[in-house]
Amino acid sequence: MVVVFGSINLDLVTRIARFPAPGETLAADSFATYPGGKGANQALAAARAGSTVRLFGAVGRDAFADPALELLRAGGVDLGGVARVSERTGCATILVDAHGENCIVVAAGANVRADPATVPDTALTSATILVLQHEVPDHANATLIARARRLGTRIVLNAAPARSLSIELLRQIDVLVVNETEAAELAASHGWPADAAAFARRAGTISSRLTIAVTLGSKGAIVSSDGALFSATPPRLEVVDTTGAGDAFVGALAAALGRGASMRDALGCAVAAGTLACTIAGAQPSLPDRAAIDAWLPFVTSSAT
Ligand code: RIB
Repeated sequence: MVVVFGSINLDLVTRIARFPAPGETLAADSFATYPGGKGANQALAAARAGSTVRLFGAVGRDAFADPALELLRAGGVDLGGVARVSERTGCATILVDAHGENCIVVAAGANVRADPATVPDTALTSATILVLQHEVPDHANATLIARARRLGTRIVLNAAPARSLSIELLRQIDVLVVNETEAAELAASHGWPADAAAFARRAGTISSRLTIAVTLGSKGAIVSSDGALFSATPPRLEVVDTTGAGDAFVGALAAALGRGASMRDALGCAVAAGTLACTIAGAQPSLPDRAAIDAWLPFVTSSAT
């Protein structure tokens, strides 16, 4: 089973030819709303990749809450751990340019009330993969990570958006997933090399249990695990919208690990899922299912470096 503790947002997405300069007003090509939030996206990605998934987090009692939960419900994610609180549902304002690249501003709203105490011990077994991100308060994540460690749960932390992370916390988790920007920030704060491969190698020495995965955009991802360094590279696809690609990666990785796949096999699934997620607009509508991931796996090139 995959248990996700994290954010739930409604995404307000405007497509434009290029990002505006400060003070500039541009005409948009289109506007749409989609369910989003890194926690919610990763929960749905894991469910579509074939896992049983429980999501713990919070939404408001406003008009954004039900649309934010709609695809999770349809995707079979257990939402019994989603609280309704007085703050507004989290909201992300997203600009997507003609190349599919995005700029995102998130108003956390109800996500500040995500409460680790709502996750019961029975959900944190040794068979559980616990997935967390950085869109809920640090202290909530730290509390849950410490408890999950004591209970023997395997812990995947997607350190996005970038925030400082202590060595002590890194020692408690099993898998750290970052993109190149997040890796560079973490590297700077600990005096480690910024290059993705060198970063993964160095960060992986913190503890023998820790696996480091650095996503590389269209170039796939590189992993340091058990002293070995390996990568997976996807074929080129036409990019429509990169929003949620990292979440597709994390959810598919967690689902694969949850069904007992090796880290190398899980990486292939994650890279296939992240790549496919760039081919459709919106975070949650673009998350691929298990059949689509499996169909793309033969086109992902794995190599040891
Ligand atoms: O990772 C993409 C997500 O980040 C979006 O869905 C948006 O809600 C922001 O949280």
